[in-house]
Amino acid sequence: ERVTELNVLKRVCVILCSEHCRYALGMEDGRIPNEDLTASSRWYETTGPQYARLNSEDGDGAWCPEGQLEPSDSQYLQIDLRRLTFLTLFGTQGRYARGLGKEFATHYRLNYSRDGQLWKSWKNRLGKEVLDGNKDTYGIFSNDLKPPIIARFVRVIPVTRLSSTVCMRVELYGCPWDDGLLSYSAPEGQLMMAPGNPSVISLNDSTYDGVHEKRKLSGGLGQLTDGVTGRDDFLAIRQYNVWQGYDYLGWRNDTQGTQGYVEMEFVFDRLRNFTSMKVHSNNMYTRGVKIFSSVSCWFKPSLSWEPEPVSFSTILDDRNPSARYVTVPLSRRAARSLRCRFYYADVWMMFSEISFQSGNDSKPSCSLRFSSAAAPSASSSSDEGNTPILIGCLVTIILLLVIIIFLILWCQCVCKVLEKTLFAHVVRLPPGPTNTDPHYERVFLLDPQYQNPAVLRNKLPELSQSAEASACGGGYAEPDVTQCTPHQSFNNNAPHYAETDIVRLQGVTGSNMYAVPALTVDSLTRKDISAAEFPRHQLIFREKLGEGQFGEVHLCEAEGLPEFLGEGSPLPDRDGHSVLVAVKQLRADATSQARNDFLKEIKIMSRLDDPNIIRLLCVCVSSDPLCMVTEYMENGDLNMFLCQREIESTLTHANNIPSVSLSDLLHMAVQISSGMKYLASLNFVHRDLATRNCLLDRRLTIKIADFGMSRNLYSSDYYRIQGRAVLPIRWMAWESILLGKFTTASDVWAFGVTLWEIFTLCKEQPYSLLSDEQVIENSGEFFRNQGRQIFLYAPPLCPPSLFELMMRCWSRNITDRPTFEGLYQALRPHVNQ
Ligand SMILES: *[C@@H]1O[C@H](CO)[C@@H](O)[C@H](O)[C@H]1NC(C)=O
Ligand SMILES: *[C@@H]1O[C@H](CO)[C@@H](O)[C@H](O)[C@H]1NC(C)=O
Ligand SMILES: *[C@@H]1O[C@H](CO)[C@@H](O)[C@H](O)[C@H]1NC(C)=O
Repeated sequence: ERVTELNVLKRVCVILCSEHCRYALGMEDGRIPNEDLTASSRWYETTGPQYARLNSEDGDGAWCPEGQLEPSDSQYLQIDLRRLTFLTLFGTQGRYARGLGKEFATHYRLNYSRDGQLWKSWKNRLGKEVLDGNKDTYGIFSNDLKPPIIARFVRVIPVTRLSSTVCMRVELYGCPWDDGLLSYSAPEGQLMMAPGNPSVISLNDSTYDGVHEKRKLSGGLGQLTDGVTGRDDFLAIRQYNVWQGYDYLGWRNDTQGTQGYVEMEFVFDRLRNFTSMKVHSNNMYTRGVKIFSSVSCWFKPSLSWEPEPVSFSTILDDRNPSARYVTVPLSRRAARSLRCRFYYADVWMMFSEISFQSGNDSKPSCSLRFSSAAAPSASSSSDEGNTPILIGCLVTIILLLVIIIFLILWCQCVCKVLEKTLFAHVVRLPPGPTNTDPHYERVFLLDPQYQNPAVLRNKLPELSQSAEASACGGGYAEPDVTQCTPHQSFNNNAPHYAETDIVRLQGVTGSNMYAVPALTVDSLTRKDISAAEFPRHQLIFREKLGEGQFGEVHLCEAEGLPEFLGEGSPLPDRDGHSVLVAVKQLRADATSQARNDFLKEIKIMSRLDDPNIIRLLCVCVSSDPLCMVTEYMENGDLNMFLCQREIESTLTHANNIPSVSLSDLLHMAVQISSGMKYLASLNFVHRDLATRNCLLDRRLTIKIADFGMSRNLYSSDYYRIQGRAVLPIRWMAWESILLGKFTTASDVWAFGVTLWEIFTLCKEQPYSLLSDEQVIENSGEFFRNQGRQIFLYAPPLCPPSLFELMMRCWSRNITDRPTFEGLYQALRPHVNQ
């Protein structure tokens, strides 16, 4: 248990070290002094810029520019942050003045400057400048800045459509920009015509805030410093509503004038000793993209360039198409500017981020954030005041790390899985759709980051939550359109299923049944496989259902399958003699490890025989590529099915809206518990029970399968630990998350979550309001068991007795959880025969 406590600590550290750059910068608590606040005008002395502090009632309660604000005006409030800052969030409030105020800004713009001379207007990723502001005088409204702003000075410019008076109070959120990079220049990004891709892929730098002239970018920052790294496949994007290739800035070698390299120049705020440069680069060699083959960097410490460059050759890699950070050592040379030539290794070179590490800011950003997170209101206004805190934090972190490293070494032989889940960097995914259940608010109060009401507000927009509001397409505002296709809008941000480790861990396409204690699979041969060999040419491809690095899942028509399987094999009734089947296929070039896993999966599958478990029908293993053919259910998966439906009512009847009845839902629950009861009786641990893994036929018979992992549609349901594994954390018991322990009891936990999904009609992801990190933190709360863990709320449709059953599935102690047999017995009477 000590290990687990440390584990939790380590989690917290990892979480703090990750991309959470959302700390209040000191308007509210006064760390930004009055002299750093200026304005284009003020109405009275008592509404001067020094009163523009969030939640402050001093003076007349806000900053107000003079007179009526006209639509053409640009009055501003200016904040000098005294250092370059990475701003990720902006919060505003109107003038409340203890109930007397009535002024607020409904909209505003942001201008920023790094040097105080040259001002730029902030635009979102789609080029829109105006941000939404307040709707009343007291509420705080926050806007995520996407892209973030890197600046020292910020101007808030209230915008109005009609002549009116406005007043504002604000807070800025972010963290110091320690890179010190002021600008980069580069050749403009190019267009790519990919064979087989109808649209042109634009690899331009669409958020660049400098000059774009003569095919060159200069004097600004843009996508290479926005903190968003590109995906392995550059066509897959992380941002909403943007075009293919958005995340990358890319150049082609053969355009005239290239000498086989791309030259970039970097200008910094002051002289720095550079230890290294990290370039996040794409490596889709199959499409002619590779990391650079070598790079040479010249240094300019003062007026002239030093003749000797630092050169570095990379190790090229034609095996792994993952995008990656390439670290270029820079020999601790001092410079204010750098000029680097990146040499092509292939036709294309694509970068998504570049960062610099220099000696002078050796304080790890983790400790800095650690300290500000631990004491968000530590109001020391000077940097010197922070030094002891920083040193203290550093020492703490080093000690913690030493302990953890020791433990890890010790653990290595004992618990491989623990190590696997631990030593990983956290990938931040955007939070899911929102909801105002009081259970959720509690978690925010635990985390200092959320003690700020602005952040809290931002996380909890007002929306009325009722059974009807969960209607497909209804209720939510535009960015939250996750209603009917539950996880699709996050699809782009979600990890891509294509990693070696996953395959090793989860089978070719996400089979979760590899850890079956009863079966020892040492030498697998053809005779171990009881399923019959099907003639490959009789499988007619219809559609691709999903893919992984070593395999794909196809929807196929199997000609003559009923005859092939013979009498008495229950197949979904089909006209004629062909049947739809799912075909999992291993790529011919898969590793022998993947091959072995695939055969293992076949062996396991061929032993399962239950009406509620998907059946292996036949295989094609006599030649490559290896295939396994399983049942396919025409209603697709339960998640899709429920999401497109409403609960049956006179309204749905009258309007012909697809619907399900409560007893349908109960019937589904019973079938799933029955299938799981069967697996449990064989000591099988499924590890990934969820509605996405339950398939349905026309008569609403449910069969449990495991296709989810390979289907890109659901990738946001899985949490990727970088380069390691993909885990369905929102369905996982605390002990699975923290200790890597998967048992039938953790399947029971997942069953509880699956029930919850069913009774919310899959309109929402579990814990949709929590980020992945918070879900992990929550499992720490389960472990600590101090009453601070949060549970999923009771779905409005769900009978109370059923919710009690769910809650029992989420008992902290494994022994308190019901068994599948018990669940089946408890659920069955609910279904009216
Ligand atoms: C980048 O390319 C996209 C898509 O072609 C285009 O809409 C956008 O205006 C371009 N941005 C810049 C800054 O050139
Ligand atoms: C890039 O182009 C240059 C000149 O056109 C050529 O010499 C070089 O071989 C090319 N490099 C690659 C990797 O294609
Ligand atoms: C490092 O920072 C100190 C002040 O903190 C400054 O005086 C010094 O010039 C810096 N050195 C380099 C090489 O950046």
